[in-house]
Amino acid sequence: MNRDIILLRTVEVAAIASYKYIGKKNKNLVDQAAVEAFQVMLKNEKGFKLKVVNGEGELDEAPMLFVGQILGDLEDPSVLTYDVSVDPVEGTHPAAYNYAGSISTIAFSRENTMLQLPEMYMEKLFVSTEFKECINLSKGIVFSIEAMQFHAKRKDLKCIILDKPRHQEIIRKMNDMGIIVRLIQDGDVLAAIDVVNGEADFVYGIGGAPEGSLMAALSISSDCKMQSRLVRYEEVWPNELETIERQNKERAWLEKYNLDFDSILHDLDLIDDHKVRFFAAGLTAGGSLKPVDYKNGKFYVNAFMSSHGIVRNFNSVYDVKKVNSLKPEIKFLFDKYKR
Ligand code: FBP
Repeated sequence: MNRDIILLRTVEVAAIASYKYIGKKNKNLVDQAAVEAFQVMLKNEKGFKLKVVNGEGELDEAPMLFVGQILGDLEDPSVLTYDVSVDPVEGTHPAAYNYAGSISTIAFSRENTMLQLPEMYMEKLFVSTEFKECINLSKGIVFSIEAMQFHAKRKDLKCIILDKPRHQEIIRKMNDMGIIVRLIQDGDVLAAIDVVNGEADFVYGIGGAPEGSLMAALSISSDCKMQSRLVRYEEVWPNELETIERQNKERAWLEKYNLDFDSILHDLDLIDDHKVRFFAAGLTAGGSLKPVDYKNGKFYVNAFMSSHGIVRNFNSVYDVKKVNSLKPEIKFLFDKYKR
């Protein structure tokens, strides 16, 4: 079967598996269900291998989808291997409490093209195709916004930003600049999908670095633009004492990955492949992807895919009885994660 269909179906089934635990106030259970769905769905696929570059963590902290894990066709040494960034549940908190912002997502590119990103914070600016040539994060966010406003010949551009204490000053500034600000609690990858789907002009703010890899995949594959910069923990939480242990950890990470806090990382620095492909499916309501739902024996899933500047949104319906008679691995997951 075609790789794209396999990965599309995988995010859909991960959304369906996690449905059982949406709103049940347990982040681990919702994550475990989606992780198992990825593992089961990709285990025996033939014709390609997937190497996890950004996943659930290092081997010692993640039993599945750990960094370096290979999935897919392990028998045939001649098949191509692809790099993968994967987040079975991006936005575990909103999934566990049924708030806006949760999706299941994966992206793949040619082998050795993805940068492994540490569990650190990252400043990210993701803009729609129209503003690709306007932004320059090295000159700051205000410069980039003014350039976009000048290009659009209007002030009222739409921005999505995480509603966190670290962003209060820039939110005030953007309000003064005439920007229409939409605040979200979680889920900057879904916010970037909203930009691609035309619901906003840009996403800005400090969020997770591993999510940055998925946003870069989305940016390249949908002909948008993303720039980013790694950020010190103390910049995000100035009132928390930055421990020596944390500082040492950050220093070791930067050395290991050959990164620093000053460099502006473009999307193609994070994934050096114009043919990268990005997939997602909605778990909870709030963004441009509808939440996974179950009615009268059928699951309804809204999935998304982008590649080569082409963006696709899918409304898929899984009739549980029919699907069960077709695919043993889907039957296994549907039985195990029945609500
Ligand atoms: P999780 O999947 O780890 O729950 O991340 C959700 C998220 O909202 C991301 O979308 C965002 O980049 C990050 O957390 C922001 O981090 P923090 O909650 O520490 O401000």
